[in-house]
Amino acid sequence: MKICRTKKSLSALSDAWHQAGETVAIVPTMGYLHEGHLSLVRLAKKKARRVAVSVFVNPTQFGPNEDFERYPRDERHDFALLRAEGVDAVFAPAPEDMYAEDATVSLVESKLSKVLCGAFRPTHFAGVLTVVLKLFNVSRADVAVFGQKDAQQLAVIRRMVRDLDVPVEIVGAPLVREKDGLALSSRNTYLSAAERRRALSLHKALDAAEADYRAGKTDPAAATARIAKALAKSCDSVDYAEAVDADTLEPVKKLGPNTLLAVAAYVGKTRLIDNHLL
Ligand code: PAJ
Repeated sequence: MKICRTKKSLSALSDAWHQAGETVAIVPTMGYLHEGHLSLVRLAKKKARRVAVSVFVNPTQFGPNEDFERYPRDERHDFALLRAEGVDAVFAPAPEDMYAEDATVSLVESKLSKVLCGAFRPTHFAGVLTVVLKLFNVSRADVAVFGQKDAQQLAVIRRMVRDLDVPVEIVGAPLVREKDGLALSSRNTYLSAAERRRALSLHKALDAAEADYRAGKTDPAAATARIAKALAKSCDSVDYAEAVDADTLEPVKKLGPNTLLAVAAYVGKTRLIDNHLL
């Protein structure tokens, strides 16, 4: 496994692969890897001959009062996991290498990124899109894999690729959960044992709403009210509980296939997100 610390080294490696007729997939991550990330890597291996994984805690997607400083980091462990998966290259640049100090261009999506998490994290998706486009450019990837855990991020990235004709195939990967249903997240490490038990309410509330849907209840207002009520009981505050179309992120008039039930809530100081795609 090659460890690339500079954009130049990753680009050179990818160019050599392409010259040898090999396809390249990129799996962007912020590290502190878990089985959710590794499922993306395994899918990437099926989609392309070479797989590069980026491990970069991207400062521009964190708001001023968010957890950039305390975001968990363990590069050695991450690299060992990636080596064991047979990853070809890991890209772990220093922030100074990633961004020009006086960078003045960033990428703004003006609709999908305003709702759900975007309403609470107004600069987040511009930071995500900018770094993701940079990762695509630097890695010259043919394919990129993103998880359904961050369903809004996936929708916003698909929209960027469509609207800017970015020559990268976007592959979505299923959300991976713990046995008890908690969505895997690097931020779960912030949770105490008691908080972790309360955090399970996100999945449980979504599960109950999905069961209602399967039993024939298709009113989005009733579904989201039920979810919000359950979250209000076990979480410290609820940012949102919504039923939207998974591609446009617009509220649905009726629950149906491709409806995304999405939630964000705080347990203690930790902001958690989860979703079920009907
Ligand atoms: P990060 O939170 O590290 O997630 C990296 C990728 O792993 C994302 O595509 C995310 O959706 C996926 N992922 C995380 N938890 C998952 C789970 N439980 N099941 C399936 N996939 C999961 O998302 C980011 O980093 C950043 O915003 C990034 C795209 C790297 C840009 O900085």
